Amino acid sequence: MTACIVGWSHGKFGKLDGETSESLVVKAATEAIAHAGIEPRDVDVIYVGNMNGGFVRQEFHSSLALQAHPDLRFKPSTRVENACATGSAAIHMGLNTLAARKARFVLVVGVEKMTELNSAQAGEVLIKASYVAEEANIEAGFAGIFGKITSAYFQRYGDKSDALARIAVKAHRNGAKNPFAHFQKEFAYEFCRTPSDKNPFVAGPLKRTDCSPVTDGAAAVILTDVETALGMKQAIAFRAAEQVNDFLPMSRRDIIKFEGPALAWKKALSQARLDLLDLSFVESHDCFTSAELIEYEAMGLAAPGEGERAILEGWVERDGKLPVNVSGGLKAKGHPVGATGVSMHVMAAMQLSGTAPGELQLPTARLGGVFNMGGAAVANYVSILEPLR
Ligand code: COA
Repeated sequence: MTACIVGWSHGKFGKLDGETSESLVVKAATEAIAHAGIEPRDVDVIYVGNMNGGFVRQEFHSSLALQAHPDLRFKPSTRVENACATGSAAIHMGLNTLAARKARFVLVVGVEKMTELNSAQAGEVLIKASYVAEEANIEAGFAGIFGKITSAYFQRYGDKSDALARIAVKAHRNGAKNPFAHFQKEFAYEFCRTPSDKNPFVAGPLKRTDCSPVTDGAAAVILTDVETALGMKQAIAFRAAEQVNDFLPMSRRDIIKFEGPALAWKKALSQARLDLLDLSFVESHDCFTSAELIEYEAMGLAAPGEGERAILEGWVERDGKLPVNVSGGLKAKGHPVGATGVSMHVMAAMQLSGTAPGELQLPTARLGGVFNMGGAAVANYVSILEPLR
């Protein structure tokens, strides 16, 4: 263990009219510093995770964090970007900074303001996270990429639409318990399973209820070394943190195997000296329901082609042997791309400190896994977290 999360904040995710990425960054930074019980002057280094790429005109975000307090002026702050894994990438920069002993306290903010664009325009921005030379002409933005992956999976292993609908139902049932979630209502199985005017096909076999929404939001964490963390009011330690990047072009990979995510999980579990089922829960990157299905296989919960068993047999439900996405996941909580990785770590920290609000809190949460993915299984980050004491 080299570092800990000692403070955090998480705003409500959704279509946040009236907020800007600046106001979201300022609020998240201010609340995380207060939650850690430190002063703004104690922050040594700042990382701001923001993908942007045209969601908002303000591209240069790093110094927006300094607007949170005059004492943050002159602190080194850097914007980090790694597609939908931007939030975890920013956290990893913080972990590296601590490992190099270049800081005592690091502030990491993840933010995205996506809803100034409509869904089609947002799709045009998101598709920039594909291998543009070969893949960007696909219809429906990034949903088109996952539509293609889902079709290939169905071709090899059979139609898994029942399992995808069950994953959506689980996400929304869990999201209904999460006051930070974009969608806080349950969706019926028949609604998710059946194409309709309210649930049309978006790309390939994926319907609207199989997609994460276009969302605004921010989350933040304060990181410090273990020695310092021992004296703090709350401390969630990194037992492992691994990053694995794969080739960007899907043409260079067997795209339904998710080999990068699988390797990231293998390395993290080995670093933590744990088996997957030692974990109390996992927050996994369900940008689309089919991504979660394949991730069951990549994390080692089910054999290739058998991911459906994890959902159909209840293993990943709140009371199953490995609850996945009790927060509602990207599907219900929302996926403000630059904020998502930070949000996943905050959700895990809340569970592990026993401070998740109301019904969101799991009865037992000792070890948590986080898997955050940029692109179609390209930039893959796994963290394993546990309370320091
Ligand atoms: N899941 C469930 N319901 C959704 C939804 C989603 N993902 N997105 C929107 N809705 C609901 C809205 O709340 C709204 O409901 P209402 O009529 O009761 O108010 C209705 O559907 C229409 O909303 P709208 O925003 O007009 O839908 P849309 O068809 O323009 O957008 C998607 C839907 C799925 C295309 C859009 O959310 C999308 O592009 N998602 C993917 C984002 C993405 O690629 N992220 C990166 C992943 S790597």
